[in-house]
Amino acid sequence: MAKNGLYRAGVIGGGAIAQECHLPGYKKNKRCKLAAFAEPVADRHGEITARFGNLAGYADYRDMLAREDLDVVSICTPNRFHAEHAVAALDAGCHVLCEKPIATTLKDADRMIAAARANRRKLMIGFTHRLLTGPMRCKSMLDNKAIGKPFMIRVRFAHGGPYPGWAKNSWFYNKKLSAGGAMLDMGIHAIDLCLWLLGPIAAVNGKAATLIKDIEVDDNALMMLEFKGGALGYIEVGWTSKPGFNGFEIYGTEGTLICDYARGLQLCSGKASAGKDSVTEWKVLDKKPGRGGWAIELDYWMDVVMGNEKLTMNGAAGRDALAVALAAYKSSAAGGKRVEPASIK
Ligand SMILES: NC(=O)c1ccc[n+]([C@@H]2O[C@H](COP(=O)([O-])OP(=O)(O)OC[C@H]3O[C@@H](n4cnc5c(N)ncnc54)[C@H](O)[C@@H]3O)[C@@H](O)[C@H]2O)c1
Repeated sequence: MAKNGLYRAGVIGGGAIAQECHLPGYKKNKRCKLAAFAEPVADRHGEITARFGNLAGYADYRDMLAREDLDVVSICTPNRFHAEHAVAALDAGCHVLCEKPIATTLKDADRMIAAARANRRKLMIGFTHRLLTGPMRCKSMLDNKAIGKPFMIRVRFAHGGPYPGWAKNSWFYNKKLSAGGAMLDMGIHAIDLCLWLLGPIAAVNGKAATLIKDIEVDDNALMMLEFKGGALGYIEVGWTSKPGFNGFEIYGTEGTLICDYARGLQLCSGKASAGKDSVTEWKVLDKKPGRGGWAIELDYWMDVVMGNEKLTMNGAAGRDALAVALAAYKSSAAGGKRVEPASIK
């Protein structure tokens, strides 16, 4: 820690998510000193220092870790490099916030979890949907049995795709660097929400397809989930979507939660029947359930580092979500057969 009691923060990877979330988040957190970043593309250094001040910029993350005496590090690199970068930062004694997905293989996820344990450092995965006001409200309502027993969840997350428009290059579409398309990129957020809200997943059937874009990974995908508690779920994700429904719905024995990120979070209760006695009562709980997320992620993370918040988006949560996504790809390759995800060791 710096002499003034501030945590020294660094970021590996200086692309879109680093610039939109991690760098500004550390910069505004009062317990941090944003000290350095590592980014191999030289042109990006000027872009970053112009926006975030006179930070030390490194082409090689190993030099940053060796020279900067950092306490906290964010991993904002393409998926393939998460494990290498996170393990190096953990071994250098840093707490690590790693972007999703945790890694591209379960073996790599296990290495990261082991490195955090061995170095007694925290490893958090950036499951930012958990920090949006709508999902947070749903989680506490489910914990309080506000809609009785949940038996069905439907999630739809889709947009026009990460590149061009968002990411700094097209690595998202390169299977070696990304390990998957929309089913992994968007799906991992959806899977994590399902695990967080409804509990462990026993099995998945998946269908990943490249429908519209000329890319080597999937641009649309479906997943059908079987929860250990008996509920069912389905997830639709895509990189080719025009504006439309973005959010999730949870059906319980006593009511329904509809969390439409653009239109609001609503609780639907009453009596649903096929007959004329059907009575539906709608209550708007949150007009803007998509608030929070990236805007509060780094403050939340620093609270986790300082012990003010419990670490729940941990390595095990990252591994669980990855196990389901990989099982969904396996299912898709086998014509949609039921696959049980590998469990936590
Ligand atoms: N939580 C979210 O909602 C969210 C949103 C977008 C992206 N992400 C995740 O963030 C990560 C980065 O995505 P992005 O959209 O910022 O992509 P990006 O292409 O904009 O940025 C990636 C950056 O990493 C740099 N990089 C590549 N190899 C490196 C290395 N060895 N050392 C240091 N830097 C290296 C690239 O030059 C680039 O600047 C991905 O894992 C992605 O899944 C998460």
